[in-house]
Amino acid sequence: MNILITGGAGFLGQRLASTLLSQGTLQGRAIEQLMLADLVAPRHDAVLADARVRWHTGDLLAQLATLMAQRWDAVFHLASAVSGECEANFDLGLHANLDTTRHLLDACRAQTLAGHAPALFFFSSSVAVFGSDTALPLPAVVRDDTLPTPQSSYGIHKFVCEQLVADYTRKGFIDGRCARLMTVSVRPGRPNGAASGFLSGLFREPLAGLHSACPVDLDTMVALSSPANTVAGMVAVAQADRASFGGRTALNLPALTVSVREMLAALEALAGPQVMGLITHQADPSVAGIVSAWPSRFENTRALRLGLSADASFTGVLKQYIHDHPETVRQPQARQRLGLPEPH
Ligand SMILES: NC(=O)c1ccc[n+]([C@@H]2O[C@H](COP(=O)([O-])OP(=O)(O)OC[C@H]3O[C@@H](n4cnc5c(N)ncnc54)[C@H](O)[C@@H]3O)[C@@H](O)[C@H]2O)c1
Repeated sequence: MNILITGGAGFLGQRLASTLLSQGTLQGRAIEQLMLADLVAPRHDAVLADARVRWHTGDLLAQLATLMAQRWDAVFHLASAVSGECEANFDLGLHANLDTTRHLLDACRAQTLAGHAPALFFFSSSVAVFGSDTALPLPAVVRDDTLPTPQSSYGIHKFVCEQLVADYTRKGFIDGRCARLMTVSVRPGRPNGAASGFLSGLFREPLAGLHSACPVDLDTMVALSSPANTVAGMVAVAQADRASFGGRTALNLPALTVSVREMLAALEALAGPQVMGLITHQADPSVAGIVSAWPSRFENTRALRLGLSADASFTGVLKQYIHDHPETVRQPQARQRLGLPEPH
């Protein structure tokens, strides 16, 4: 199987690549080639060392003719401008998230019309498709049949692309599946332009001994998923046969519902009071407005049917981050408390 991952140098793209390479197959077929396409070059050494991996850099839309000259059995379309970027730059959002997806879908359609089997097409949608509209207020619990009413450009683009994937699937051009990802936390690396970025930075930065500011009210409720659980959900959606996936509508991945206050309490219990001293409260109405418009409680019947479940606790999510990235924990008392050896 030849697989293309767009956004393959990104946070989830790299983790997805690593997971697919170690499982070795997708839908029962051996993975022969994995192409990572991104604006930037991938940096994950273990992934790049694998002989099945290739990469291609550049704007996806500009590179589409080159990339799609090859036939792909599966496309994981992850490349995307993030929520804050789309709010700040309307044209960037339209280009990166809408125009690019539409042309990528058309390139897959051309391959099918040329006589190939329809490619498996996974699209990473987002919890940001949900929001509260005056005419259609968000219900307390979002279910699989809740109508998305996105309240940001990013959410609108994701919802439009979900519909395109459904229609290209209906027409038999692709075998499309869309999964709505919850906010993924804790994300390693540098802060990005996502409005939800603080839901990682609030923990990652203090653990590293750096100051961090909380832009929202502590009682803000959020729907989260750990990186490992998110990638497991993405793979399960791609692996499922069409009947088990059920229809063509996007599937909400499971969510851990937690308040920012509970998240901080989990951090303090694990890493100690010195880490908490690095956190201040600095209200940011624009971030608070975007994040509080997203739903926090889900009833995930379809995902549960695929055998997926939410992370059990935010403590478990934090432990996963510390286990995966022990070198990033640099606050001395936290290292000691967590039993991490002295850094070299
Ligand atoms: N991480 C989350 O919390 C979360 C939540 C919901 C949905 N998602 C979705 O999951 C996907 C992956 O998210 P992520 O956290 O890995 O994001 P990321 O920003 O780490 O990765 C996205 C990658 O896409 C690339 N990219 C952006 N525009 C491009 C273009 N025009 N051409 C080529 N490459 C381009 C970026 O360089 C980046 O490496 C995205 O579609 C995102 O919208 C993520």
